[in-house]
Parts: sequence; structure tokens; C-alpha cells
Amino acid sequence: MRTRRSVIDLDDLTASEMTYIFERTADFEHEKPDRLLDDVACVNMFFENSTRTMTSFALAEQRLGANAITLWPKESSLQKGETIEDTAITLAAMGINVLVIRHSEEGYPRRVALAFDGHVINAGDGTHAHPTQGLLDIYTMRQEFGELSGRRIAIVGDILHSRVAHSNIAGLRSFGAEITLVGPPAFLPDDYAQPHVKIERDLDPILGDVDAIMLLRIQRERFADMPISDEEYIARYRLDSRRLKRMRPEAIIMHPGPYHRGVELDDSVLDYAGWRYASQVMHGVRVRMALLDFLVNGAPALVA
Ligand code: CP
Repeated sequence: MRTRRSVIDLDDLTASEMTYIFERTADFEHEKPDRLLDDVACVNMFFENSTRTMTSFALAEQRLGANAITLWPKESSLQKGETIEDTAITLAAMGINVLVIRHSEEGYPRRVALAFDGHVINAGDGTHAHPTQGLLDIYTMRQEFGELSGRRIAIVGDILHSRVAHSNIAGLRSFGAEITLVGPPAFLPDDYAQPHVKIERDLDPILGDVDAIMLLRIQRERFADMPISDEEYIARYRLDSRRLKRMRPEAIIMHPGPYHRGVELDDSVLDYAGWRYASQVMHGVRVRMALLDFLVNGAPALVA
């Protein structure tokens, strides 16, 4: 029976809890952390490829003094027919406290959370959600702008297949941002429009209006046929030197990575003063430290 809190998407956290996590993240910028996860064991299971998320979770766990264990799914007893639920029960019996899971199937981490007597953190499930990427993105924007209420944030590209976009939309709405989603109908159905979330079909009209642009990779592994030609996609959505000139000078550009040069951006973006990719990656380690600390040790500041 599950008795611990898990984070499957950002709607599992209140705005106050996210704010607390951001305050802890900022603490970790200045102070060497204590061994806040002494005697805590974390298993990282990545069924899908990862560079940023897997490495930063391992670093975050190590920096807090946890036992950090990588369980490679292909080398686990899942290959002998054990179910993921029975794997979760087994790991809990061993004293594992935290399971970090990435999987291509939407809902897989939630299934695990129902079986695991510990904390499950979704490290990305299919097209559904990627809450720690959402947290680090929102932290990066708060570092830049302070409060996000009324800030105009554009998310551009393959929204439909992007778990990063979905978690950012959920989190940014909690903080009162005004979100513009930009993409063709096949990547951005009309029903994404909701209060504080509007839809634009082309990038050019919004360039001069936004405080931040988040570019997305086309998630080609998640659909069979590219719905528009690469040439049309590039013509309408690629951020390049010509489009950079039309942005507000103080606007920032973000990307969750991995980015594809020549598709959603060209090399001029990587030299742009407002390109924040490296900050996002750096914040990813500290945000994950703060989330782990919050789940395992709680938030004294939030207890009345
Ligand atoms: N942004 C992100 O999730 O990157 P990885 O797939 O490398 O973890």
C-alpha cells in the first residue's frame, strides 16, 4: 500500500510547495548541502534514453548523501517476467525509499506509485508529464523575472507529444503566467486553448511580445509520419538570426534539450545573450536536490 507522496506531474504539488522547493533550490546555490538524505536509498530506473535527467538525479542524490543506485531495466528481473508492481514491492521491502522512473508509456510511474511504499518521482512518461523538467524551467524563469504573474511565455513546436510542454503549462498556470502555445494543428490541437493559455499558428506574430520563448524538439519517436514537411516546419517555426532581431532585447530563450541545430533553432540562438539552456541544466541538479529533500524530509516552513 502506498503511504508516501509521489510526484507524477506538477499538479501533485501546490503553488506553495513549489515555491518552497524553489527556495530550497536557491539555498543550494549558496550552501554546501548537509547529508540530508543520509540512510536514504534511491533507485533510478530509466526505460528510455536520458542524458540530463538521469545524470542530474544521480548527482542530486549523491550530493545529499543518499545511496544512489541505477537499476537498468534490461538487466533487471523484469526480463524474467516479474511485473513492475512486484519489482516495486521488492524494492520497498529492501528499504529503497525513492524510485525515479522514466518510461515511454503514459501512466507507468503512477502504476508504480500505487504499488511502491515509498516516493515515486516521474522522470518523464511518454507524452504525459516531466515534472522535474517543469520545475527547473519555472525556477529558471523565476530567477530571471521574479514573480511570473502576467509574464508572457511562449512554448513553440510539437506541444502535443511534449511531456515538457504539458508539465510547464500546468506549472506556469499555477504561477499566473500568460502562456502562448505556437505550432501547427497537428502538433497543437485547438483544445489546448484555456484561460491564460492561447494558441498561435505562426511564430512571427508573437516574437516581439514575449518575455520568454521555450523551443521544443519534434518528438519524432512518438508518431509515425511527420504531419508537415521539414521545410515548412523550419520556415514557420525555426528560431534563427532573422527572427532573433525581432525579439525584445531582454527576452530569454529556453530549451529542455536535447536540441536539434537546424530544425527548431539555428546556431545564432546558441550565441544569443538570452539563451538560458546552460542555466536550465545547472538548475536541474539543484531543483532535484530540493524535490528529494522535500519529499523525504518534508517542509517545516509549510507546517502551520
Ligand atoms: N530534458 C530532458 O529530459 O533531457 P534527457 O532526455 O536527456 O533527460
